[in-house]
Amino acid sequence: MACRRWEPETWPNRAGFRTTRQPDAPDLTDYRRRHRSADPRVFGRAPAVGWRAYSGGVEIDDFPRLELGFFPTPLHRLDRLSAALGAELWIKRDDLTGLGGGGNKVRKLEYLLADVLASGQTTVVTGGGYQSNFARQTAAACAKLGLRCVLGLRDGYLDNAEYTDGGNVFLDQLFGAEVRKYPGIGSKAAVRRAAAELAAEGVDAYVVPVGGSNAIGSLGYVRAARELLADGPFDAVVVAASSCGTAAGLAVGLAADGSRAELVGMCVDSDAAATGALIGRLAAQLHDLGLPSEPLHCRAPDHARGPGYGVPTPEMRRAVHLLAETEGIVLDPVYSGKAFAGLLTELRQGRLGGRVVFVHTGGLPSLFPYRSEL
Ligand SMILES: Cc1ncc(COP(=O)(O)O)c(C=O)c1O
Repeated sequence: MACRRWEPETWPNRAGFRTTRQPDAPDLTDYRRRHRSADPRVFGRAPAVGWRAYSGGVEIDDFPRLELGFFPTPLHRLDRLSAALGAELWIKRDDLTGLGGGGNKVRKLEYLLADVLASGQTTVVTGGGYQSNFARQTAAACAKLGLRCVLGLRDGYLDNAEYTDGGNVFLDQLFGAEVRKYPGIGSKAAVRRAAAELAAEGVDAYVVPVGGSNAIGSLGYVRAARELLADGPFDAVVVAASSCGTAAGLAVGLAADGSRAELVGMCVDSDAAATGALIGRLAAQLHDLGLPSEPLHCRAPDHARGPGYGVPTPEMRRAVHLLAETEGIVLDPVYSGKAFAGLLTELRQGRLGGRVVFVHTGGLPSLFPYRSEL
């Protein structure tokens, strides 16, 4: 389904964005207020007024950001695979962002943790599934900044020991994070539970939403769109879509910079309707931060999702093996493997063509718990 794009007259929740905080929407008034004072580690300063002129006044580099990763990430052509498929396939290596084993969340954390520093809070709480890559990258970023990190994690598709204690969980603990496990509940509930426990312990923690997907985190992918376009143009940009900050940031960033590339957010979690709506909602939140509301050239198909989040599909298995055997690149079974499988399907069907770039979002540590499924 096409992503709901933000239009003042048609956006149904528009009033809601102004008056009620959405569950994961940051309080932007606080955000602006906080960033008038500067931390020497933070680049950029939130402008006090006039946040509505992306190309005229406010630029993505104006937003407060830490330097946590290694950017720009490499972009290269997939030569053997392109030849085999008769296509022109490129890959943006956001699996190589550096910090804590890399992945897409480092870009979001550059903005989110700048806000944590500005808030003065010294404990961060977030979470997700046991094998959450976001939790792992948050743990690493907190280690680098000397912040306490508490993770509320929930169970998922597998229950082998490698899944519950290895891979990302092992790395979370290696980075010094406190892991609190809450089997049987959802990701958001796990974060809420951990935050409530901390509050009961008298700790005032900064709550980062699951996947780092609010307007502040999504700024990381608005910035990534510009980085990508420096090596463009492309006809299509394909990426996995779960909590959708990555897809929404890219869609808004591409549109803001006048690109004609189509953003394809391959659903790996919710279905097409929910994913499209989520991308639209995050785009609206980005608009509230001052980014333009150009029509988004974006869709969110769910043909690669399979039976559900984290559940392997034969197409995912084939995609993981194909990219490993032709290009020496490792995909993960939950996100990038399914997204790449969706890209291959669409290439075969002629729905994607021209110069196509796949944004590799990382996830290597969860490959090992899934070994028996691959
Ligand atoms: C490896 C990997 N790829 C893609 C995604 C999806 O990104 P988003 O949640 O911004 O949609 C995630 C999210 O956890 C991830 O860990």
